[in-house]
Formats: sequence, structure tokens, C-alpha cells
Amino acid sequence: MVNGSTRLLGVIGWPVAHTLSPAMQNAALAARGLNYIYVPLPVPPERLPAALYGLPALGFVGVNVTVPHKEAVLPYMAELTPIAMAVGAVNTIVVREDGSLLGDNTDGAGFLDDLRAHGIRVGESPDEAPSPYRRALIVGAGGAARAVAYVLAGAGMEVAVVNRTLERALDLCATIRRAWPEAPITAHPFPSALARLAPEADLIVNATSLGLHEADPLPWDPAVPFLPRQVVYDLIYTGRTPFLALAEQYGARAIGGLGMLIYQGARAFELWTGVPAPVEVMAAALEKRRNAPCQPFAF
Ligand SMILES: NC(=O)c1ccc[n+]([C@@H]2O[C@H](COP(=O)([O-])OP(=O)(O)OC[C@H]3O[C@@H](n4cnc5c(N)ncnc54)[C@H](OP(=O)(O)O)[C@@H]3O)[C@@H](O)[C@H]2O)c1
Repeated sequence: MVNGSTRLLGVIGWPVAHTLSPAMQNAALAARGLNYIYVPLPVPPERLPAALYGLPALGFVGVNVTVPHKEAVLPYMAELTPIAMAVGAVNTIVVREDGSLLGDNTDGAGFLDDLRAHGIRVGESPDEAPSPYRRALIVGAGGAARAVAYVLAGAGMEVAVVNRTLERALDLCATIRRAWPEAPITAHPFPSALARLAPEADLIVNATSLGLHEADPLPWDPAVPFLPRQVVYDLIYTGRTPFLALAEQYGARAIGGLGMLIYQGARAFELWTGVPAPVEVMAAALEKRRNAPCQPFAF
């Protein structure tokens, strides 16, 4: 029930009509008995500065940021978390007590959370046996690939980035090395480098936008086999993509990006409210929306 004490959250994007985040976040807020509301905020690029300046004035506690504003909001942040700075993109803004804006990026943490939820541990810890996941192959070099590369390199994995535009992959590597100077991260052309790199990889990630639409080509070379020991992760969260289907045909473990979507939202929820996110409730809310007929996806 919205009343005079209701606190405001939302998602800034353009367009934003089909976003899944309000369903997921409002379900979580209700489950925790928190008097907040999370609303879609359609903001065209020319009005982005005014919208951001207005957040503290309107009493917003925080917002998510989605396409096309994730990079454009950077100059308006009073502070960036290390990952947002390294990745050069913000997906979560916290409005602080003094009205200043903190920019974070929860995609990388959401990705790691979902791996963990699947029992996949990357990185070393003194109390545990060495992780069998040592080498990652990331296809794509956009904002999502940067977030994934940041957390995998930070966990000590060897990372190979394969991208259609090689310069972008090289730029990604330079960015990651600024954050993790010792990181063994390399850039390669897509798709020609796949045949050489794939057999060595333990974790393969599609971080391209290929697979969102039915007519998309594979983000892979179909002549390059997967191996049963490999984990193949597709950041696309609309379901079982042709890329995942191919990986399964070879006996690899295939995981879609829905879990990452949930966990990046859970991280944002916790930043804003300080309360542990009810992850199962968020998953159920998304599942309900996914099963609704003719619902396009965005977040
Ligand atoms: N599950 C989640 O929570 C989550 C979170 C964030 C993002 N995502 C998903 O991750 C995907 C990537 O997002 P993004 O923000 O990183 O997008 P982006 O910045 O636009 O990057 C797109 C990437 O796809 C590549 N690509 C596009 N068309 C291609 C083609 N025809 N052949 C080869 N490569 C192609 C691009 O290569 P070039 O550099 O050569 O153009 C680039 O590397 C999206 O599908 C998004 O929905 C999921």
C-alpha cells in the first residue's frame, strides 16, 4: 500500500516499458515487508542529466540503470565502486544521505553468485582444495563481458577474450590489467581463435548479444566441440539458447543467465535496503513474468 512514508526506487532506461526489474524488486520488497515501491522510469538521453539531478530532490533511495544509459551516467556519480570504475558502466545507483550518487555495477557479483549457486567455485581460498576452474574463455567484449572478465580475473582465473572487433577485446584487456596488473588476460579474434582456445577452457561464457533473437547466428563456431568437463554459461536470460543447446549436445554443463539477472538484482536490493534479498521470491516473480504470453524481456 503506497502512502506518505513509501520510499522510492526505480529503473532508468529508454525504452523501459518491458523491464522485468519492477516485478522482481516489488515482489522482494513485499516479501520483506518494506514500504518501498520500484517503478520504471523512461528517460530519453537528452533528459538524463535532469533525471539524475532530480533523484535526491524527489527522495529516491536508488535506481537501476539500463540500456542506453549505463555508461552515460558515469560523470554524474560522486563516487564509483572499483568494479564500476574498471568496467566503465553503472547498473545500480545509491542515493546517499547527503544526496550524492554512488555508482555501482552488480553484474559481476551477480554472475559469481550464480556460479556459486550452481556449486561452481572459482578462485582460490586457503581452506579449500584448488578450484578445477582455472581458465575462462569469454566471447564478447561489451559492458557485460567487462564485468565478467573483472570478477574472473579478480578471482585469479586465466581469461581469454574473443571478440569480433579485436580492438574492443584489446581495450577490455588493458582495462582489466589496470585493475589487476598481474592478470593473465589475452585478446583474440572471433571466431577464428575459438578452435585453439576452446579445448583449454574450463568455463566458457557467451557475453555477446547473440541469441536474444531467433534469427541470430551462434556466438560460436559450430565446428568447434565442447567438452563434457566444461561449464558453458550464456548471459542471455531468455531461456535455453541455441548456444546452450549445442553445448548440451556435447555433454557440457549449460547454464543460462537468468540466475545472474536475479543475483545482480538481489545485490542492488541489499545495497538500497540493507536487508538480505529473498532470492527465491525474486526468481518466482521472474518465472511468472517469463511464462506470461508475448512478454519481451529487458531489465
Ligand atoms: N544475465 C544478466 O544478468 C545480464 C547482465 C548484463 C548483460 N546481459 C546480456 O549480455 C549481453 C551483452 O550485453 P552488453 O551490455 O555487454 O552488450 P554490448 O555492450 O552491446 O556488447 C555486445 C557484444 O556482442 C558482440 N556482437 C554483437 N553482434 C555480433 C555478431 N553479429 N557477431 C559477433 N559478435 C557480435 C559485440 O561484438 P563487437 O564488439 O564486435 O560489436 C559485443 O562484444 C546482452 O544479451 C545482455 O542482455 C545479461
